[in-house]
Amino acid sequence: MPYRLGSVLIPVPQIRDRVEELAAAISADYAGRDLLLICALKGAAIFWADLCRAMTIPCQSDFVAMESYADATLPLAEPRFTKAASVSLEGRDILLIEDIVDTGHTITHLKRMLQAQSPKSIALCGLLDKAERREVEVPIEYCGFVIPNVYVVGYGLDYAQQYRHLPYIARVDEVK
Ligand code: IMP
Ligand code: MG
Repeated sequence: MPYRLGSVLIPVPQIRDRVEELAAAISADYAGRDLLLICALKGAAIFWADLCRAMTIPCQSDFVAMESYADATLPLAEPRFTKAASVSLEGRDILLIEDIVDTGHTITHLKRMLQAQSPKSIALCGLLDKAERREVEVPIEYCGFVIPNVYVVGYGLDYAQQYRHLPYIARVDEVK
């Protein structure tokens, strides 16, 4: 499909302000706890980098990557980690950092796989929520923005591995 970068949906200052608000809320809620941020690669990397630098409490970070289903149409029967966590999750307070919750399948699988490692708690911090598209219910304890059902790129999110470096979030339009 031919495509081109479309209009800006969320500009830089709005992202920056919201990330600071989320970091303040997380810092307040997790004060005195053993917080481990788990960043879901690759999409959440830029969000994680800004979020963790705005945190005002001690926290550690780790990274996971899931095999993603091509085209994001059909969930894999047995999804697996292409990169698993490299520290023990047992007894820890986990905050999963995701770029976007769309149908909800990816995050549901990821949470289930992390849950098997006996953390004390798992909560989700998602930058974007495409709520209209949800197929499985997913609680998002810290949500950046609810967005309409449009394909977006930038600030870590890609289309065919492109556009992750854009500092803002924009639409991708099909060229007819
Ligand atoms: P879900 O399993 O349908 O919730 O899909 C979530 C994953 O699909 C995200 O982690 C993204 O990798 C990808 N995704 C869904 N919507 C978009 C989008 O608009 N732009 C970029 N990636 C997306
Ligand atoms: Mg992703």
